[in-house]
Amino acid sequence: MKGIILAGGNATRLRPVTAVTSKQLLPVYDKPMIYYPLSVLMLSGIREILVITTGEDQPQFRRLLGDGSDLGLRLTYAVQTRPRGLADAFLLGADHIGDHSVALILGDNVFHGSSFIQNLRAATERVGGCRLFGYPVSDPHRYGIAEVDAEGRLLSLAEKPTATRSNLAVTGLYLYDNDVVSIAQQVRPSPRGELEITDINQVYLDQGRAALTELGRGTAWLDTGTFSSLMEAGQYIEILERRQGARIACIEEVALRMGYIDAAACLRLGKTMENSDYGRYVIEVATGSRIPELVP
Ligand code: DAU
Repeated sequence: MKGIILAGGNATRLRPVTAVTSKQLLPVYDKPMIYYPLSVLMLSGIREILVITTGEDQPQFRRLLGDGSDLGLRLTYAVQTRPRGLADAFLLGADHIGDHSVALILGDNVFHGSSFIQNLRAATERVGGCRLFGYPVSDPHRYGIAEVDAEGRLLSLAEKPTATRSNLAVTGLYLYDNDVVSIAQQVRPSPRGELEITDINQVYLDQGRAALTELGRGTAWLDTGTFSSLMEAGQYIEILERRQGARIACIEEVALRMGYIDAAACLRLGKTMENSDYGRYVIEVATGSRIPELVP
C-alpha cells in the first residue's frame, strides 16, 4: 500500500503565522505537526509516501524530511498549486499510486492511541473498496459526517451538513483500493469549488464497497484548526509525554521499532539534535535505555 500526506492549503484561520510557513510545519508541542500523520503511516507499515504541499512550502518540507532514506522510507513530493480539494490528492498522486492501494492522511490530523493503530493495521491488510474512520464530535457541522446503523454499517455520508442526526465525523484518514484514481477523475467541483473526498466516498458507498471503523474512546483525534485547538493539542501531547516518559510520533523511534532503520542509524539521527530533549530521547531509544509501548 502506498501513502499520501496532503499538506497544502492556505490555513487562513492561522494567519499571520501561516503567512510565512505551512500549517503542517507548526509545532504540536515538541515536533512539527506533519510528524503525527507521518508516524501513523509508518506504523501501518507504509514506507512509500508522497507529500503534497504548496509550491512555496515544499522546500521547507524537503529540508525537514529529505528523501526519507534516513528513516528507511521513500518520500517523494508534489505541488498543489491551489487548494482544489482533498480528492485532488489522487489526481496529483496517480503515478505514485500506480496499481497499488493507497492510504491518504491529512497533514493536520493528529491521532493517538494504541487501539487506533491495531485497527488501522488490520484494515490496511485487506482493503477492498474504501475504509473510513469515524470519531464522535460535538460540532458535526464542521466535518464530513457518517451515519451508521446499529451494527456499524455505513448508511450515508454528508459533507458539513447543516442538520444531521449523527455526530460521527469522518476523520482525515482514508484507505482505498486502486479504483480511487479513476473515481477521482470523474469527480466534479462542488458548489464551494472543491473536489470533495466525500463525493469519492459516496461512489464507493453507492457500490456497496465503503466501510467505516469507529474509533473508540481510547483513541484521541485532535483538532489543530485554530490557535486554541492547536495549543490544546500541544498540551495534550505534553501531558502524556511527561507522564509516560515516552514520546508520541517520534519518527526516528517508529523507524527503529518498525525495523526500517537499525540502532546505529537511529543514534546518528539523535546526535544531530542532541541539544534538545527530543534529540536526547532519540539517543536513549537508540541505545536501548527506553522501551516504551509503540503508539503514534
Ligand atoms: O479533518 C477531517 C475533515 O477534513 C473531514 O471530516 C471532511 O470531510 C473533509 O472535507 C476535511 O474537512 P476540512 O474542512 O477540515 O478540510 P480543509 O479544507 O480544512 O482541509 C484539510 C487539510 O487538507 C488542511 O490542512 C489543508 C489541506 N488541504 C485542503 C484542501 C482543500 C490541502 O492540502 N489541499 C486542499 O485542496
